[in-house]
Amino acid sequence: MLMPRRATRTPRQTDVFFRHMVGNMRNGVLAITRDGDVVLVNEEACRLFRLPAGDTLVGRPYADVLRDHPDIVRVLGGAFGMAALPNRAELRLRSTDTVIGYTLSLVRQQDGEPVGAALFFKDLTDVEQIEERERLRDRLAAVGEMAAVMAHEIKNPLAGIEVMAGLLRRKTKDNVDAQTLVGEIINEAKLANSIVQEVLAFVRPVRLQLYPTSVADALGSALTLADGEAVRGGIAVNLSVPTDLPPVGGDYHQLTQVFANLLINAYQALDGKGRIDLTARLATTAAEGALVPDGYQPVASVVVDVADNGPGVAPEVAEKIFNPFFTTKPKGSGLGLAIVRKIVDAHDGRIDMTSTEGRGTRFRVTLPVDPRTHAASHP
Ligand SMILES: Nc1ncnc2c1ncn2[C@@H]1O[C@H](COP(=O)(O)OP(=O)(O)OP(=O)(O)O)[C@@H](O)[C@H]1O
Ligand SMILES: [Mg+2]
Repeated sequence: MLMPRRATRTPRQTDVFFRHMVGNMRNGVLAITRDGDVVLVNEEACRLFRLPAGDTLVGRPYADVLRDHPDIVRVLGGAFGMAALPNRAELRLRSTDTVIGYTLSLVRQQDGEPVGAALFFKDLTDVEQIEERERLRDRLAAVGEMAAVMAHEIKNPLAGIEVMAGLLRRKTKDNVDAQTLVGEIINEAKLANSIVQEVLAFVRPVRLQLYPTSVADALGSALTLADGEAVRGGIAVNLSVPTDLPPVGGDYHQLTQVFANLLINAYQALDGKGRIDLTARLATTAAEGALVPDGYQPVASVVVDVADNGPGVAPEVAEKIFNPFFTTKPKGSGLGLAIVRKIVDAHDGRIDMTSTEGRGTRFRVTLPVDPRTHAASHP
């Protein structure tokens, strides 16, 4: 490549250039003379070693400058005696609990005689955190697998307990106390079984059967399902869905499960009295709440709100409600919302919760409109 000719730089200009280059490098650089004085220490090195600005350190013994970091002093101290200098080694600075990756090299003059040593290093703490997160994910996957196996193994003996308790109930017809106790056993076994089912539903990968799905129909089925699982009592449910709402691309049964879980939570929060507003609407712009998958282009979306006027969620609870096994209920498994999130994510949708303590809670599920937008139908 042809470069425009420039006036030649003086050695001083070149020196200034190199100083700036090293000074602004994103790696830490620290160089010492053979006598053990600091010749160069750049900004990143000062940040990592928590040292004052570099100029005040030049000319001082490195052992003194780095007295808070004995590990580094040891590495630099070995520079002139080692046959092979460490390349890409790692070290945890005990003083600041940061991990650095470093390379140590000798600075030689023309005849090959070493006149100094330079340490190049990089903060690896972020890299470590990413690795840690990956390890956590692997661990969670392993735990999930174990949970699935356990849930599966527990299912059969549980069914056995339920069947045998049923037999016992028939055999103890005349004994009122025994009837009550056996009734309790059956109820508890049923509860354990529903927890097992939920764990299985949670750990199983979501497999969707996508069809143009009517949100009004899914909400209707969800109400039926919720009424079977929890007590509606005197709660008023207002369902409001425009008749011309386009279908979403969804799995009818799984979406029903999503809305049912939200309704059951609302029933439980309201404890027999209050109001639930179930609404759905179309959103085509980001301002209306449409999904923006690529960050630029909103896609037509259906926004479903499940809003109750119950006790609300305290802020310290709000951040945990989607975590698996988080529950504030004595008999809850804490998987309801974790499953909801998993299903909504699988639909490329979004779920948000807003709540005012004492005023109520609103869960908002946003789902992309079915790209085929035919008449709503489900198998
Ligand atoms: N509508 C709501 N109003 C107030 N709190 C809520 C509401 N919905 C959820 N929560 C809170 O979020 C927690 C987690 O809900 P989630 O559905 O995941 O589990 P759960 O209802 O406790 O148990 P499960 O659904 O597995 O039976 C609840 O224990 C409750 O504290
Ligand atoms: Mg729940």
